Amino acid sequence: MTLIIDTRTEPERALAAACETLAQGLPVAIPTETVYGLAADATNPDAISRIYEMKGRPRFNPLICHVADLDMARHYVDFDPISLKLAQAFWPGPLTLVLPMRPQSDIHPLACAGLDTLGIRIPEGFSRSVIERYGKPLAAPSANTSGKISPTSAEHVAADLGGKLALILDAGPAEIGLESTIIKVDGDEIRLLRPGGLDVADIEKLTGRPVLRPQTAGAAIEAPGMLASHYAPAAAVRLNAADVRPGEVLIRFGGKTLPGEENAAFVLDLSPSSNLREAAANLFAYMKKADAFGAATIAFGPIPNEGLGEAIIDRIERAAAPRDGAEA
Ligand code: TXA
Ligand code: MG
Repeated sequence: MTLIIDTRTEPERALAAACETLAQGLPVAIPTETVYGLAADATNPDAISRIYEMKGRPRFNPLICHVADLDMARHYVDFDPISLKLAQAFWPGPLTLVLPMRPQSDIHPLACAGLDTLGIRIPEGFSRSVIERYGKPLAAPSANTSGKISPTSAEHVAADLGGKLALILDAGPAEIGLESTIIKVDGDEIRLLRPGGLDVADIEKLTGRPVLRPQTAGAAIEAPGMLASHYAPAAAVRLNAADVRPGEVLIRFGGKTLPGEENAAFVLDLSPSSNLREAAANLFAYMKKADAFGAATIAFGPIPNEGLGEAIIDRIERAAAPRDGAEA
């Protein structure tokens, strides 16, 4: 049921099958030089939510977006001079840069977990050819179930996710076998968000600047999950609302109406047909809609705490968490 194609013996067939599968909104396991990635079209919310679903991710961590060349990267993010220098020196390669997203970017908010920055890199090897051919960026975390180690061979991927996946591209063992190094440049500070396949010393040598290591406390905040306030809408958020108060925006699920709805500023339904994947895809966009309207409060109706619902609730809880102003 899972098709495995060897890219070394059948590159054309592998490219064609990958593009066809991606265009259907399905994830494909692709070989990158770091680890095998679970790749999906970064502009397609349904495809991205399938990544979270397949990995069983407890929450929507931002995903790294993979592009084919610097021109493609420039379409989605703005480069500061230091980041550009790093990109020119180390791409394609095991370096992810966290950069501000451009306004016209059509990367879906589910891929970057609603952040206004994007983790982006150009991978080495066959995965790059796939992106070149497909013509759109691919969001890809490591192709493993959440909590397991990253796969460095097609066999690892098949053992873990086989059966769930339509297609695995096999290019042999990953060259790097360790995830990319993640760097964020803030003004003239170069910050390490995650150590990885690119040696930090090489970055220091190129730039002539020290790379700031994560403080143990700060690291947890900066890398996965990020700060709650990053995800938070401007509006206050009421969870699991039993009714609607006048002037609130109601975001509900499964067509389930709530008392007082007629007094809502407006009502959005994450998925009238109770499809959690559709709900996940709509979540960030709907919170943004409520904010754009200027709502003081968003009331969320009940959402089933199962499958992707767990991740959706986690995101809403973060949005509802008290704002400590740690980072605006
Ligand atoms: O080598 C790699 O980086 C592999 C291959 C497939 O490219 N990918 C990978 O992705 O390791 P993943 O999803 O397992 O790890 C992504 C990390 C997470 O820790 C996430 O928090 C961080 O990148 N990240 C992504 N976008 C970010 C952003 N905008 N700001 C801060 N951190 C970000
Ligand atoms: Mg991973």
